[in-house]
Amino acid sequence: MKTPRTIVVGITGGIAAYKAVNIVRAFVLNGDSVHVVATPAALRFVGKPTLEAISRNPVHTDLYEGVAEVRHVAIGQGAALIVVAPATANSIAKLAAGLADDLLGNTILASTAPLVIAPAMHTEMWNNPATVANVAVLRSRGITIVGPGVGRLTGTDSGAGRMEEPDTIVAVALAVLDRAMSAGEAAASAVPDLAGRRVLISAGGTREPLDPVRFLGNRSSGKQGVALAQAALARGALVTLVAANLEVAVPTSITTVLVGSALEMHEAMTRAAGTADVIIMAAAVADYRPRSVQVGKIKKEDVGDTLTLELVKNPDILAELSTASRPGQLIIGFAAETETDADRLLALGRDKITRKGCDYLVVNRVGQDAGFGTERNTVTVLDRHGVIVSEVSGSKMSVANCILDLIG
Ligand code: C5P
Repeated sequence: MKTPRTIVVGITGGIAAYKAVNIVRAFVLNGDSVHVVATPAALRFVGKPTLEAISRNPVHTDLYEGVAEVRHVAIGQGAALIVVAPATANSIAKLAAGLADDLLGNTILASTAPLVIAPAMHTEMWNNPATVANVAVLRSRGITIVGPGVGRLTGTDSGAGRMEEPDTIVAVALAVLDRAMSAGEAAASAVPDLAGRRVLISAGGTREPLDPVRFLGNRSSGKQGVALAQAALARGALVTLVAANLEVAVPTSITTVLVGSALEMHEAMTRAAGTADVIIMAAAVADYRPRSVQVGKIKKEDVGDTLTLELVKNPDILAELSTASRPGQLIIGFAAETETDADRLLALGRDKITRKGCDYLVVNRVGQDAGFGTERNTVTVLDRHGVIVSEVSGSKMSVANCILDLIG
């Protein structure tokens, strides 16, 4: 059984506070111990009993309660991670100024844990120069800012400022926490190490159309690629995701280009590759596509008992990007193989990295029971000489972080 980590969830006074309940719930279900520190304004939007029931811990609000146990610093000192969601414009301003006029402000100032905040406010407030400057200050301190997304706001209006979806906030927060803990670092030093790096990631599985309703596809869910994108984002990277037929949601804060087929992915990746510092080809790309796509639905009445498809080879995107890479650009490929023998799997990987010409190759075994669609992954990473540089088994998020560690 895993050891629970103490996560402090700070809730400030915005309407999105009601969604913080789901964030608390997700951390609890993840096996972590959650302590909610809510501002008095937050409790006008969501009830203390709800938060206490869901977090399974008392909810603290008042600076002048628990003085004997020095609560104003004790909560922050015990935290492995602090997440503030929603973070209002006012709370962001207070954080930027280092104010400690309430329990949450004291908790944050007294803590060396990584801090993740999820802003939520109206578009005008988000775009106000004061907020822009405050957010820049927080970023410069290594604080991870998730969102806000663009979408429907409280009233009839919509725009930037909507709090990022709870599952995205949780995923990013856990990536930040995993990283801080797995590196064994003092939590304070979990400064985003990929700040400003442009990371281009492909994810999902391509579909090669046969006719308007049918395609040749594969079983990739896109979970590993999306975990890579989330982890890179949490580490400060500017992430572009080229996504083919994902079965998972993508945080709205990630620039996403939707594609269907291998040719579409080829075009999108080639276009985005020029400005990327790092390219990770996590997508399962079809090696072949039907030579021609029928305009109308293929009908068995017309075809008869046997249907023969003629397939032609798709461009190998990874190999092309590797050949065209510019100095300093790092390219990482994936090799999903069904080989069950570990030595033969490695040999396949070594052969593949030589053919593809990329800098690293992430080798994993896939099948009905492994890799595709599952929550966990087991991978071996080879460098361009075929030397094993990393072996990791765990959640797709922890695998993602180990892969990103190679970028340095
Ligand atoms: O050759 P194979 O499909 O096993 O290679 C896997 C790696 O190559 C993955 O990184 C995948 O994204 C990439 N690939 C590609 N273009 C293809 C086929 C695979 O970029 N047509």
